[in-house]
Amino acid sequence: SLLFSFADVCTEGSCYPATGDLLIGRAHKLSASSTCGVSQPTRFCIVGHLEEEKKCFLCDSRQMYDEETNNISHTIENVVTTFAPNRLKTWWQSENGVENVTIQLDLEAEFHFTHLIMTFKTFRPAAMMIERSMDFGKSWQIYRYFAYDCETSFPGISTGPMVRVDDIICDTRYSDIEPSKEGEVIFRVLDPAYDIEDPYSLRIQNMLKITNLRVKFIKLHTLGDNLLDSRDEVTEKYYYALYDMVVRGNCFCYGHASECAPMDGEPSGAEGMVHGRCMCNHNTEGLNCERCQDFYQDLPWRPAQGKNTHACKRCDCNHHATSCHFDLAVFMMTGNVSGGVCDNCQHNTMGRQCEQCARFFYQHPNRHLRDPNICEPCDCDPDGSVEGGNCDPRTDVAAGLISGQCRCKANVEGERCDNCRRGYYGLGKHPEGCLRESPSTHFIHS
Ligand SMILES: *[C@@H]1O[C@H](CO)[C@@H](O)[C@H](O)[C@H]1NC(C)=O
Ligand SMILES: *[C@@H]1O[C@H](CO)[C@@H](O)[C@H](O)[C@H]1NC(C)=O
Ligand SMILES: *[C@@H]1O[C@H](CO)[C@@H](O)[C@H](O)[C@H]1NC(C)=O
Repeated sequence: SLLFSFADVCTEGSCYPATGDLLIGRAHKLSASSTCGVSQPTRFCIVGHLEEEKKCFLCDSRQMYDEETNNISHTIENVVTTFAPNRLKTWWQSENGVENVTIQLDLEAEFHFTHLIMTFKTFRPAAMMIERSMDFGKSWQIYRYFAYDCETSFPGISTGPMVRVDDIICDTRYSDIEPSKEGEVIFRVLDPAYDIEDPYSLRIQNMLKITNLRVKFIKLHTLGDNLLDSRDEVTEKYYYALYDMVVRGNCFCYGHASECAPMDGEPSGAEGMVHGRCMCNHNTEGLNCERCQDFYQDLPWRPAQGKNTHACKRCDCNHHATSCHFDLAVFMMTGNVSGGVCDNCQHNTMGRQCEQCARFFYQHPNRHLRDPNICEPCDCDPDGSVEGGNCDPRTDVAAGLISGQCRCKANVEGERCDNCRRGYYGLGKHPEGCLRESPSTHFIHS
């Protein structure tokens, strides 16, 4: 079956889903803080290094791009890779002269992000940064700065080389004024220059984790013009424009899945879409396999690492309970072997694993511990036995216990502790069960 094929690679140890372009099928989760021609058509110009190379066009983003009418919309959806032949006819473009522009991708779950490739239509930004969030946008961390002049744009940020793989540096390689078109910006979370000892260590895995990604463009290349000069003939030459953006990654399953499926209620989406719901193995569950399944609470949840699946382990409740929980104190008491505690033991059982009979019941000596009838009610006289009718719960020779055995009060005898010993009478609630006969009563009763 399908499930078995998922499980196959995962039985050997940690397993990971294939990577793809996270933007495919997610154009609607991508936004830009500035887009040309949204409220009205606006003019923009293309410049070469010479003023006479200037050519001007209209941007009208009030409607989607339409190949038939050649509508000239430049909304952010245009950067998502399609396999249509019009790759260089569609692009996203910001408003003229606006330097601070943010492009943001909001994902519906946690994903692993490996690299970003942007292909610019015009000059690449003179300064920009890439940030990620791991908590759906509540907090953000910087991945990397990029600038033509790092010292001026991001004072105090090292230009590398990186010492640790998670150092935050300012990279100058992708901010040059050349090429003036189709220039790329490439960012890899794990720099290939680094020999990463254990790519599946938690530190590395954490570096890759995103729920949101944003790119902040901060400074335009302005070919000597000053953008403080806000005349149209100056600003209409300067804007950001992107042909293409690829966000490579896969769904994030802590090493517990090799396949991902669409989120609940979501259509299976575009061809090649990287879905966000892990098909969990190793007895884990959750969008990202981030917890143990309900009845698998015997060990603490852990990410799989290398050859170790760190699979969640089933609780042993001897078939007398249907739920259990993890208890750290119990786990540590057992030397980190077993921390599952069964909830609501049925069939008159009790104990961490429902392995004992409840008070007033005893283990049937010839039945299996898992038998629903394992615990039989004690049959002891409540007045004549020491614990109000309780009996030995199990057989334990060392402890002198015989399963089901009633323990009689001092002046009582009989298998059920329901007879007064010779010389005693009046079985009742008194501490010794029966009263000593006086010579006259002895005479009467015997
Ligand atoms: C864009 O296309 C729509 C129809 O799809 C049309 O009504 C509109 O006039 C077109 N706009 C331009 C600027 O061509
Ligand atoms: C753009 O952002 C930078 C840094 O975030 C800030 O220093 C600068 O003033 C901003 N510029 C404008 C025009 O808002
Ligand atoms: C047992 O597990 C606890 C919690 O995970 C951990 O803090 C502790 O160091 C472990 N002890 C041993 C002996 O592995």
